[in-house]
Amino acid sequence: MTRHLYVHLPFCAHRCGYCDFVTVVGRRGQHATYVDALLAELELERDVLAPELDTVFLGGGTPTFTEPAALERLLAALPSAREVTVEANPETVTQELARTLRRVGANRVSLGVQSFQPHLLEVLERVAQPDTVRRAFYHLRDAGFDNISFDLIYGIPGQSAADLEADLGEALELDPEHLSCYELEAKPGTRFTHAHGAELELQAEAMETYFEIVVERLTAAGHRWYETANFCRTGTRDLRAQHNLAYWLGRDYLGLGIGAVSTVGGNRWRNTPRLRLYVEELAARRRPPRELEPLARDVQQRERIMLGLRLDEPLRMTGFDDVLDEAALERLQRLGLVERANDTLSLTSRGRMLGGGVTADLLA
Ligand SMILES: C[S@@+](CC[C@H](N)C(=O)[O-])C[C@H]1O[C@@H](n2cnc3c(N)ncnc32)[C@H](O)[C@@H]1O
Ligand code: SF4
Repeated sequence: MTRHLYVHLPFCAHRCGYCDFVTVVGRRGQHATYVDALLAELELERDVLAPELDTVFLGGGTPTFTEPAALERLLAALPSAREVTVEANPETVTQELARTLRRVGANRVSLGVQSFQPHLLEVLERVAQPDTVRRAFYHLRDAGFDNISFDLIYGIPGQSAADLEADLGEALELDPEHLSCYELEAKPGTRFTHAHGAELELQAEAMETYFEIVVERLTAAGHRWYETANFCRTGTRDLRAQHNLAYWLGRDYLGLGIGAVSTVGGNRWRNTPRLRLYVEELAARRRPPRELEPLARDVQQRERIMLGLRLDEPLRMTGFDDVLDEAALERLQRLGLVERANDTLSLTSRGRMLGGGVTADLLA
């Protein structure tokens, strides 16, 4: 039984050029029926969920763009959990929304900041301006949120190292509990990639330096670099994103909504990304069409290593003998990229800086 629930709310006011998530623009009139469908899917999958959940994550899309009454009804109907996160776009966070989220049980908000530089926000087609971000942050604090995360993106066309330093500085000044810093991924063939091709190539050359800047600046400010792209304040509370941690630790999770992925008992499935089909099937109390992928043991082990080594805690190696390349392991140890102690494995700081390449080498 799983203790982690993901709920996908696909609606957005506008589709940002760089975004590759399952999103639907507008459709105000359909938000309530979509929430009905989510709750119907939850009922169909109840048996998969443990009686008490550790985490619930409402992701998007823009969950906070969902019509407020529908969003409130959804949050009130979902099972409670120790950590309930809602993703929010800054321009949607009013004083009223912040209070409502808190009242219906959310205790963590992940704010899509991306950058504090107006020229970069424009490239990303973001509605929020730096002041919008600050206002949203204060509304959340005023409503009682003591666990706020910022998403930042680097490698944006037109960005300089100084811009990135400024973004990190402005984020740290607000002092959120958690920060996720993502390298911009631009899919070939998209409108965004066409528009910024040459600049994206320049940015790609600077990515390693940017990553170093991010890690150095945030760790110097006292943040824990607990996962490749994720940082949190330290102290008495564990402020790591507990929901995402469940993914990285290879735990089971149930995903509801269009395009949502679930991994339960060695099986993975992905719901149809088609809104109409999803809503129609669930209105008839039938499971939506799904792509099903049974996970072979070695696939699960490889995934466990790829994800586990992104964390700053050693990974127990028991049972991984068939998928680890012993010769590569020894070579990477000699190069100071991997550390092995008793039955655990971890990447050194240098190894973590090199990212997934080192881990891929380790796999037979
Ligand atoms: C599911 S998205 C939605 C968040 C929210 N709708 C927003 O735009 O602020 C979560 C995060 O993924 C990151 N993201 C989205 N597209 C990305 C891309 N192409 N490359 C890197 N990060 C991306 C952004 O930082 C974003 O805040
Ligand atoms: S608002 Fe967020 S989810 Fe929606 S299109 Fe923009 S980046 Fe994607």
